[in-house]
Amino acid sequence: MSSSSGKPSSTELNIPLHVKYIQTLGQNKDDLMYHMTSHLRMNAIYWGLMALCIMNRKDALDRDETIEFVLSCWDDEAGAFGAHPGHDAHILSTLSAIQVLTIHDAVDKIDVSRVVKFILSLQQPSGVFAGDSFGEIDTRFSYIAVQALSLLGHLDKLDVEKTVAYVLKCRNFDGGFGAVIGAESHSGQVFVCVALLAILDKLDEIDQDTLAWWLAERQLPNGGLNGRPQKLEDVCYSFWVLSAISILDKLTWIDADKLAGFILSAQDLENGGIADRPGDQPDVFHTIFGVAGLSLLGHPGLEDVDPVYCLPASLTEKLGLRKAWRALPRRTVS
Ligand code: FPP
Ligand code: ZN
Repeated sequence: MSSSSGKPSSTELNIPLHVKYIQTLGQNKDDLMYHMTSHLRMNAIYWGLMALCIMNRKDALDRDETIEFVLSCWDDEAGAFGAHPGHDAHILSTLSAIQVLTIHDAVDKIDVSRVVKFILSLQQPSGVFAGDSFGEIDTRFSYIAVQALSLLGHLDKLDVEKTVAYVLKCRNFDGGFGAVIGAESHSGQVFVCVALLAILDKLDEIDQDTLAWWLAERQLPNGGLNGRPQKLEDVCYSFWVLSAISILDKLTWIDADKLAGFILSAQDLENGGIADRPGDQPDVFHTIFGVAGLSLLGHPGLEDVDPVYCLPASLTEKLGLRKAWRALPRRTVS
């Protein structure tokens, strides 16, 4: 089978090829792209490792090397993690570091109380969180703060009322959520707000049916999901939309076969990896969120992903953090 670009496509997930793709990422440190993406390095480690976990190949990246890299990104002045050694701490790279260390059962290697202090210092009087000391605010950062505090076992230090109040003020007439008060609904922001409310047990504060309807409307005739009305489909929304709709227990409102077909058609079957849409260049971001989407759709041979934390469901279960949500039943290989 061939896509419109002439590259081969498939109806099956080529796990060995995607594992190899992730293993070779970042190996060529002379590559210009390697340096251009240094601000995303820590996130990329989490995306790659998490994709491997879902494909049941956590062993494909060396544990000790991974932990060593994470620890080398510690910003001792701030008491948190940057995206790359020498970079200033940011809440996003700090969450990725905590997620990677949690997956590898190595959180004991960090100064948890300093990280908790860094995170709490970013909460603004309005209740929203900033990403770093420069002060950009976004509901993404609120979710990141809540997930990080939850993984570190310090959620009790959070001003829950203030945090939730800001998120609820970002809700729009269509049921969705934006990045800040008054901003347009966007599926990525819907995911962070719904997952934050799920962690804090506040989902009953929102109109779940209107929101699930808006999410289901994101599916386009070719099966792919978009992030907002009038936008193109994109594989990463397979996670942002599906995770939110599965937390709301309305996953059956999406045509699973058509969406799985769309994600699979965006695989690069020459070099591995998944792209934003068929025929485009793959990257690790779309690879993790494509694979995570397939997992939520019950694709055979994959591990369950927890849509609230975007971590292996077996791990959040073990940590006692797993919330009520349902993936579609795992399909068997025919
Ligand atoms: C779309 O981004 C996605 C979002 C706005 C949500 C991002 C969420 C986080 C960074 C929180 C951490 C996530 C996890 C899974 C632990 P985009 O900039 O690609 O949007 P666009 O498609 O409009 O460009
Ligand atoms: Zn995308």
